[in-house]
Amino acid sequence: MTARTRVKQALSEGRPGETLLLKGWARTVRTGKGVTFISLNDGSTLAGIQVVAEPELENYAEVSALGTGSAVAVTGVLQESPAAGQELELKALSVEVVGAADQEYPMQKKRHSFEYLRTIAHMRVRSNTFGAVFRVRSALAQEVHRFFAERGFLYVHTPIITANDCEGAGELFRVTTLDMDNPPRVEGEIDFGQDFFAKATGLTVSGQLEGELFAQAFSDIYTFGPTFRAENSNTARHAAEFWMIEPEMAFADLSDDADLAEAFLKRLCRFALDSCDEDMRFFNAQIDKGLIERIEGVARASFARMDYGEAIERLKKAPVSFQFPVEWGLDLQSEHERYLTEQVVGGPVFIMNYPKDIKAFYMRLNDDGRTVAAMDLLVPKVGEIIGGSQREERLEPLIGRMMEVGIEPESLSWYLDTRRWGSTPHAGFGLGFERLIMYLTGMENIRDVIPFPRTPRHAEF
Ligand code: 4AD
Ligand code: MG
Repeated sequence: MTARTRVKQALSEGRPGETLLLKGWARTVRTGKGVTFISLNDGSTLAGIQVVAEPELENYAEVSALGTGSAVAVTGVLQESPAAGQELELKALSVEVVGAADQEYPMQKKRHSFEYLRTIAHMRVRSNTFGAVFRVRSALAQEVHRFFAERGFLYVHTPIITANDCEGAGELFRVTTLDMDNPPRVEGEIDFGQDFFAKATGLTVSGQLEGELFAQAFSDIYTFGPTFRAENSNTARHAAEFWMIEPEMAFADLSDDADLAEAFLKRLCRFALDSCDEDMRFFNAQIDKGLIERIEGVARASFARMDYGEAIERLKKAPVSFQFPVEWGLDLQSEHERYLTEQVVGGPVFIMNYPKDIKAFYMRLNDDGRTVAAMDLLVPKVGEIIGGSQREERLEPLIGRMMEVGIEPESLSWYLDTRRWGSTPHAGFGLGFERLIMYLTGMENIRDVIPFPRTPRHAEF
């Protein structure tokens, strides 16, 4: 008997009488009269397994003095547990102390605030909440790939270093090898011609523009990668580095786009409920009562669709006073989004056809000449979770729009080429992966659903 068994497997498939080798970390160590109980967790499942150690062990003194957080390898016999709430426990035949932890270990048993745990993000992953968050995150990432693979979408890796600012919001982090103390200059301006790429470059804010190029060859594609925005907004929903899933479909319009977004989100809800049920029950009990019921509802719901114009009318009639003004032509703020999805609709809602002046240059101009074929999907508690649009596939209006917002058409000549040769109506969207995890777990701060959050003034670990 040599191979290690994971705790999850021991609990689900183990039979009393079996001898197993388990390895993991002690969540708690309780020593009583003539017996020591170690709650052993190896990350495979929320529930640890109780290890029962008795004085017959040759190193019992060492074992009974073990600190929370210690790493151990236990060989033992599975037996039915007399303790409430667990069926199996492991009676230790030997306990090897692999890595001891002393009293300074920062996660002793008592509950800690999420704020404190963020300061020890290298350790918080060994807690129940963060174990559950990162198991769900991993499982969902894999389900994202399955969803698109089943539908014949090509998975494309778009570049991380780029010279274009897709969203046009000026939030690019600069990438450079120029000497910061003494950058080369021409006429007072920094000369990026002498930089590594011979032009100014940054970290991508979206893989969409390159994704569109691939859609014009493979029909249906998606990207799933890290995204960077130097957005100095210190909110619970914004991170400077986050992950985004961006599908793009050729021969598709805005309505097809919303259909895909709806099917996608529902599928991920269903998956979380069915395949992450232990962790979801934990979130429902500890983080957000009513979570499971809400996600069940979404998985079954038919998502509402509302024009931006109607949304503005609804907000104007709302019997509440918002902090930010509501006027046709202004962007919706988080408070407005949440009111629409939580109070007006009571579930997910697509807001469609926004004024062109508050949206990116690439969105298709509608026949009214003042709105574009944009859609944002709003969900309760989170607000915007998906942003997407039908793209402007006509060369002239696209160039016109670029000039309007001050993008030099020559700088995106490759993007325009797809409108010159074999252009098709096409559409896509971006789902913020952390927003999805927040939504599905009930966690309220984006810093608590990404392993090592990057936010203004924070890049530890
Ligand atoms: O609405 P956004 O800016 O859309 C795009 O980037 C498009 N290029 C997507 C596309 O059509 N292919 O961002 C899409 C989503 C948002 O709805 C939100 O969920 C998430 O990305 N997001 C952020 N998540 C965390 N932190 C931030 N700073 C985010 N900014 C956007
Ligand atoms: Mg958006």
